[in-house]
Amino acid sequence: MQMKYLGSVPFAPITFGCMAIADAAVWGPQDENETISAMHLAADLGIFSFDTAAMYGNGLSEQIVGRAFGNSDKVTIATKLLSSKQHYGEVIEECEKSLKNLQRDAIDLYQIHWPSNDVPFEETASALLKLKEQGKIREIGVSNFGVEQLAEMEAFMQPVSNQLMYNLFFRAPEVNMVELHKKYGMGMMTYSSIAQGLLTGKYQGLSDVPVTLRRTRLYPCTMNPASPHKEGGCQELVEKALADLRIFCADKNMTMAQVALAWLMHKDGVTTVIAGARSEKQVKSNILAMTTELNDNDMATLDQLSADIKAYIGGNLDAWRGNDDIENRRIH
Ligand SMILES: NC(=O)c1ccc[n+]([C@@H]2O[C@H](COP(=O)([O-])OP(=O)(O)OC[C@H]3O[C@@H](n4cnc5c(N)ncnc54)[C@H](OP(=O)(O)O)[C@@H]3O)[C@@H](O)[C@H]2O)c1
Repeated sequence: MQMKYLGSVPFAPITFGCMAIADAAVWGPQDENETISAMHLAADLGIFSFDTAAMYGNGLSEQIVGRAFGNSDKVTIATKLLSSKQHYGEVIEECEKSLKNLQRDAIDLYQIHWPSNDVPFEETASALLKLKEQGKIREIGVSNFGVEQLAEMEAFMQPVSNQLMYNLFFRAPEVNMVELHKKYGMGMMTYSSIAQGLLTGKYQGLSDVPVTLRRTRLYPCTMNPASPHKEGGCQELVEKALADLRIFCADKNMTMAQVALAWLMHKDGVTTVIAGARSEKQVKSNILAMTTELNDNDMATLDQLSADIKAYIGGNLDAWRGNDDIENRRIH
């Protein structure tokens, strides 16, 4: 079994993402038995690490993970603290709730989901360090932290990981974060690794993607009435890259999800690639990436194929807020 480490905690090269299984408003309904079969299959096949959050389904995702695995030491469980609960007492309370939901004695990796604009990092860090000292959490991670936020946090604690959106079409972490994570000795967990399904090839173009998922800066704001950004997006570039990627995959006789996940796994600075899955079929498809070799030429071709999108997106790590929307951007 292939192992990666974040601090002392082992992760598989692919981590099972547990958001879509408990977020019907965005992803549509999901049968819990199907979810649990998919999770058990993943664990049996070597995807033994799972990423969830208190936010997903307001605790439901953590509860499903708890029902699937209980206190088993055969799996690694990462969860995340609610962004709005970062005062000292709230962190302690939230951790207890997550432990109860997950039916575990300890959380392997406890992450700050988003940085807080209101609570000083020192306060949140001191609560997390207390929980670690008590053995309730094994390692501390952060998520959606940028250059300024990591620098500010450094004085108070050293998280082992940062979780960021990173995929073939959203390459903002390449601009500053890969080197910065190395400087701080942190690993990177990538989320939306298959661009919420877009990089599986099941959508011909952006208009086929469900409206609720057309929210990142890849999409023109006109494609979702509630778009958090007000940009024109880069639809033409994305659709051209999708078409090129389809040809690449056909030439290699590989699926698009396999290529997209393998590309990330070959990228510098990536510790584990989080991939959401809602069925055994998706797990079986995604796991192909664990044994997929891409050579230097393949990597260069794939890098080139999305180079224009990378230039459009730039180094802004907040996939939902515009490049010039400094006021509302949550990652700095
Ligand atoms: N830290 C953060 O702020 C943050 C933010 C977002 C996500 N995350 C984490 O990252 C995980 C994954 O990210 P994500 O859910 O945004 O997106 P993703 O992993 O890019 O896409 C997952 C979705 O794609 C579809 N899919 C997966 N495998 C497929 C396959 N082989 N063929 C066809 N469709 C397939 C499934 O949805 P359908 O069947 O509905 O198409 C699945 O739910 C989350 O579960 C969560 O753990 C973290």
